[in-house]
Formats: sequence, structure tokens, C-alpha cells
Amino acid sequence: MIKLEGVWKSFPGQQNPAVKELSMEVPAGEVCVLVGPSGCGKTTTMKMINRLIEPTAGMIYVNGRDTAALDPIKLRLDIGYVIQEIGLFPHMTVAENIATVPREKRWPADRIRARVEELLELVGLDPGIFYHRKPADLSGGQRQRVGVARALAADPPILLMDEPFGAVDPITRAHLQNEFLRLQEQMHKTIIFVTHDIDEAIKMGDRIAVMRAGELVQYDTPERLLSAPADDFVSTLVGRNRSIKRLHLIKVRDVVRSDVPVVRPGSSLEEVKSALQVCNPPVIMVADKQNRLQGVISPDEVLYRDRAASAAEMLHTVESVIEEGATLNDALSTMLNCGERYVAVLNKRRELQGVITFSYLLELMKEDAA
Ligand SMILES: Nc1ncnc2c1ncn2[C@@H]1O[C@H](COP(=O)(O)OP(=O)(O)OP(=O)(O)O)[C@@H](O)[C@H]1O
Ligand SMILES: [Mg+2]
Repeated sequence: MIKLEGVWKSFPGQQNPAVKELSMEVPAGEVCVLVGPSGCGKTTTMKMINRLIEPTAGMIYVNGRDTAALDPIKLRLDIGYVIQEIGLFPHMTVAENIATVPREKRWPADRIRARVEELLELVGLDPGIFYHRKPADLSGGQRQRVGVARALAADPPILLMDEPFGAVDPITRAHLQNEFLRLQEQMHKTIIFVTHDIDEAIKMGDRIAVMRAGELVQYDTPERLLSAPADDFVSTLVGRNRSIKRLHLIKVRDVVRSDVPVVRPGSSLEEVKSALQVCNPPVIMVADKQNRLQGVISPDEVLYRDRAASAAEMLHTVESVIEEGATLNDALSTMLNCGERYVAVLNKRRELQGVITFSYLLELMKEDAA
């Protein structure tokens, strides 16, 4: 969707180029985060894509078309832009700000009005309250929402967002991030998102481009960035707690072990004992014929039972369960909250998928640290 090939930018009077030999591709529907220290060329890169800045050398393609050959004004109408420091026009109302691009596109007034109201709802601002307000009468978080609404106004397939949630407190920021991720699940826009904050990058990005002094240091998935940082600069950037951060990225479904012993409620003591010998599990799962979890049996439980006991008599209920779409971090907190060394993994239909044990989790984290 967006492709940069050997792009350079040198500003007159500057000793070092702001962007050097930058090549990268952003697939349609993905969020690519540009992250790196102040002055490393993030904003410059972004502005070259919508031609607010002309590259000194190299090619930029949008949707397969060389942007140098396109009319920059028309190009910009199809690329939503959330400007660093928000950049709302102070003399215009919220509604007029949001309507900027639709007005340029000469939409009829009633369509613009309907779209502005729809967008205000979408970003969580009541049109009845905010439609006629001026930017000066908004909080920082509200201004950021208006900035995002303005970029989305004409429903462009591409969004460039330059520190869109930069100027707000951490709680508001987390809230805006979550809302935006939810929106993106439906919108599937191709997004370039700039931030200073590596945690924001890991949370928001399908891919992350780490830049330093105008150069691309590593372009990878958040997962790869954490597990295989390209150099010291990247490992310092992602920080010391990479194993912990990585727990947030790994989905239980991708690592769940299904080789755990499962018995039926009607299984005999002998069957339970032989299940225990298979792999010395912290517990044995008991599931019915439809594979729905009935409970667990702890290994101690079988020691004092007479031969006639069935699994149904030995099982106790399980609180340590998790849905397979959750993250390993959720799995760990469930174990800690329940005081157990395992968590049973269920799918949406509540069918047993397997188990994550504490020792297995440690193994996974060790692999990561290696
Ligand atoms: N119009 C300009 N004229 C001269 N130099 C410029 C111009 N715009 C940017 N630069 C320089 O280019 C380099 C990259 O700037 P850029 O704004 O792209 O950085 P950034 O990564 O967005 O930084 P920040 O995180 O602080 O926003 C900086 O050294 C900056 O001073
Ligand atoms: Mg910038």
C-alpha cells in the first residue's frame, strides 16, 4: 500500500540528512509505527508520504502509484493526517475543523453535517455539546479526538498519525489507544503512526520501524523486536523488561499445550493414576464427552483413594481458567490470582483446549531471554 525506496531528505543548511536511504513497505490494513528519538526523522518521513515535504532522492509509492507523478493536493485528500501537536485551526469550530477535507472535496452541506456528527460519536464526543465549540475550549484529550476525527473525515484508506496521543496524561492516553485499536479492527486502514514511546509502539503496531539519525535500524513485528533486537540501540530502546513485555504479545492459543492428560468423569482410579504417570502434570483435567471442563484432580488426591473411586468423586472445581484469545500475561495473572501453578485454556464454546503451566511459562520466557 505504501512503499518507500531509497528515500533521502537533506534540508538546506543541515550538515546531516534528516532521512537517509530509507526503504520500507507498509502492507494494506496494517499499522506501522515509526519510533525513535527526537529529531531522528519521523515527521519528515511522514510528510514525504503526503508530499508536504519533497524527498531529495528516492521513490515513494502509494497504492502502486509513484507519488511524485500525482497532484500533491489530490494525494493529500486521500491520506488522513493527524498533525503533531494536533494542529487544529483555532479560529474554527470543532465541526469546521473536522469538515476540512470534505469541504475541499465539495461534499454537499447536509452530507458534511451528517458525517461530522457521525465522527464525533465515533470518537466519543457528544455532537450536541462539541459541534460548535472552539479548540481552545477543549481538554487535551478532547482535542486529540477531534484531530483523529478530522483525519478520518473523508474516510481515506491511509492515515498518517504523528504522535496522535502525545499530549495527554497516561490514563487518557491508554483509553484513546484502546478506543483506536477497537476502531481499527473495523476500519482496516493502512496507518503510519509516529511515537516516542516504545510501549505505545508495541501496543499499537503490527510492525515497528525503529529509526535513529535518519536511518532505519530495524523493521519488524513487535514480537521480533522484543525477541531479536537488531543491535544495542534497539535493545536499550525496548528496555530490560522485554520478557515481561513479550508476555503481552503472545496469545495463549499460539502456545497452549494440548498434550496434557484428560480423563472423563467416569474414569477409574487406575486410569487417573496412569494419566499422572504420563508427564507428572500439576493437575489432571476432567472433561465430559463434549470436551467441556468439569474440574481438575490434584495428584495428592489419588494417593488416599480406594480402588472403587471414580474421577467424578475426586475432582474439584477450577477457577484458574482462561479463554484462548487472551495473552500470556493474562494467563500469568490468572495463575497468580488463583494461587495455582496452571491455567486451563478454553475456547469460546468453553471447550477444553489444553493447559499452560507455570513451569512451561518459565521455559517460554527463558527461550526469549536466550
Ligand atoms: N524544514 C526544516 N528545515 C531544516 N531542518 C529540518 C526541517 N524539518 C526538520 N528538520 C530537521 O530534520 C531532522 C528530523 O526532523 P523531524 O521533525 O523529522 O524529527 P522527528 O523524528 O519527527 O522528531 P520529534 O520526535 O522531535 O518530532 C531534525 O534534525 C530537524 O531539525
Ligand atoms: Mg516529529
